[in-house]
Amino acid sequence: MYEFTKELQTGNFQMDAQHRQLLRALSELVEACREQLSPQVVERAARDLYDCAARHMEDEEALQEKYGYPGLEEHRKLHEEFRKAADRMKWSLTAKGAPAEGAQEEAEAAGRWLLRHIRQEDAPAAAYISQKL
Ligand SMILES: [Fe+2]
Ligand SMILES: [Fe+2]
Repeated sequence: MYEFTKELQTGNFQMDAQHRQLLRALSELVEACREQLSPQVVERAARDLYDCAARHMEDEEALQEKYGYPGLEEHRKLHEEFRKAADRMKWSLTAKGAPAEGAQEEAEAAGRWLLRHIRQEDAPAAAYISQKL
């Protein structure tokens, strides 16, 4: 459902591969909420998305550090905001015995954040790194 379209490509192989995985995890969560699958399925999908995002962001920060990206600190803060929000979402979905009212909206909001972040913050970081390669 969330397509990895051309406009989301940063040109960095590792980042693009992980973004593709993230969109897949996000699609599964939104789908699980939309189809009102069991709380266990929704919870697992939320956990998968959170784990996938946490791993990705760690790798992306390491990559930026390796190539001396000047926007790293700012980027790290944005990732931290997302991790906190995704962690809260994971718990609220679990605690409410999802699929709860608003679960899909929460997942979609996380999706909007990610898509915007890839285009606005990840793309410039990848462009900087490609000049250093
Ligand atoms: Fe990022
Ligand atoms: Fe990213």
